[in-house]
Amino acid sequence: MQKLVIEGGVPLEGEITLHGAKNSTLPILAGALLCDGRTVLENCPRLTDVFAACRILTHLGCRCRIAEHTVTLQMQNLRTDTIPEALMQEMRSSIIFLGAVLGRTGSCHVSYPGGCELGPRPIDMHLEALRQMGARFLIHDGQLDCSAPEGLHGAVIHLPFPSVGATENIMLAAVLAKGRTVLHNAAKEPEICDLAAFLRSCGADISGDGAGTMVISGVKQLRGCSYSIMPDRIAGITYLGAAAITGGTVCLRGTDASPMDNMLPVLEQMGCRIYPEPDRLHLLAPRRLRPVASIRTMPHPGFPTDAQAIFMAILSLADGVSVLEENIFACRYRHVDALVKMGAKIHVSGRTAVVTGVRSLSGACVTATDLRGGAAMVLAGLAASGTTEVRRICYIDRGYEAIEQVLRGVGGRIVRMETGGSGEL
Ligand code: EPU
Repeated sequence: MQKLVIEGGVPLEGEITLHGAKNSTLPILAGALLCDGRTVLENCPRLTDVFAACRILTHLGCRCRIAEHTVTLQMQNLRTDTIPEALMQEMRSSIIFLGAVLGRTGSCHVSYPGGCELGPRPIDMHLEALRQMGARFLIHDGQLDCSAPEGLHGAVIHLPFPSVGATENIMLAAVLAKGRTVLHNAAKEPEICDLAAFLRSCGADISGDGAGTMVISGVKQLRGCSYSIMPDRIAGITYLGAAAITGGTVCLRGTDASPMDNMLPVLEQMGCRIYPEPDRLHLLAPRRLRPVASIRTMPHPGFPTDAQAIFMAILSLADGVSVLEENIFACRYRHVDALVKMGAKIHVSGRTAVVTGVRSLSGACVTATDLRGGAAMVLAGLAASGTTEVRRICYIDRGYEAIEQVLRGVGGRIVRMETGGSGEL
């Protein structure tokens, strides 16, 4: 077990190069299962969830080589249509393999995903959509057996909510299905458009991604291609947030402003000055941050739930009262106790969190409760006086590549240690 130890109070200054997006790498890796021949994915982040997805691919019979940030996949026929429970449990989003395996082989056996640190994670919308496309399901002893005896076919599907995972599963199932799928109320996240762009590069016929209604006409075959993953907008806003909370100045390389244009205006409202360039963003933080009257998490293009914890940490040091509302996940305030332990004033009532800014935070020993909540604790630690220890950082490693090295590169005093170990900062 490892922990991050942070000596706070240093304004971050310098350049950060942003890694590729976890949330498009994972469905794109699943998409590679549908392609014949070789797929080369560049700008893949080196994250535990990405390695877990590669282990699933290898198990299914895909040759998978990881060299730095390039993953090369060589697909022959699938060796099996079953993903063992141990592999499914390594990564919550492994359910994304369901649509791809079913689309490729006409059957799939996986363990049923349980709840997770963000609350219940039902897959009813995934299953209902796949049922409309000709799939049948048997659920027994925590196992999900799926088959499409006649093969999958196109359908007109209306999602009751624009679920990211359901949209991805439908896309993966539809690209090789017979006929046309029209998906209404599809998720519009940039990672959906990245998956669609990858599938199109492999020969898929998809239009309307990012617009709410997607039309997918099944093709006979997809061929592997070379594709570069989009930048990770949530890691990007986390690093800009680290500059904001420490009163620093950071240049984020490898992205323009567009993937973050639903979050950057909030940093500007807080008094940060942002200078976008075609392939980088500069952020200059004010001496004291201003509060934000209301942040409501919503499906894209609304404010992303994945940035809620990050902004809560930053606003805990703003000059006044801010209000956040979490509308996507039932249990996404589990980082609040840790921030309060560090001196933040936060009151949660149902979906709403009221953050009364304080003048300073103080270092404490805290435990990450999920990926973004853990990152929020790191940000708070960078701004706090004294030493902060963040434990259970396996959550953070799911979404941030070598976070301590990135932050040290801009002056953060942060090291990774074995739990129980001691070291020099
Ligand atoms: N939902 C249902 N039924 C379903 C599917 C979803 O009720 O069949 C509910 C969920 O329980 C949740 C809401 O709908 O309350 C949104 O879920 P969604 O399916 O949109 O999320 P996801 O696909 O499970 C992805 C990201 C999350 C991100 C959400 C929302 C990946 C691998 N994960 O999850 O990322 O928070 O979309 O944008 O893409 C993260 O990176 O930290 C993370 C959790």
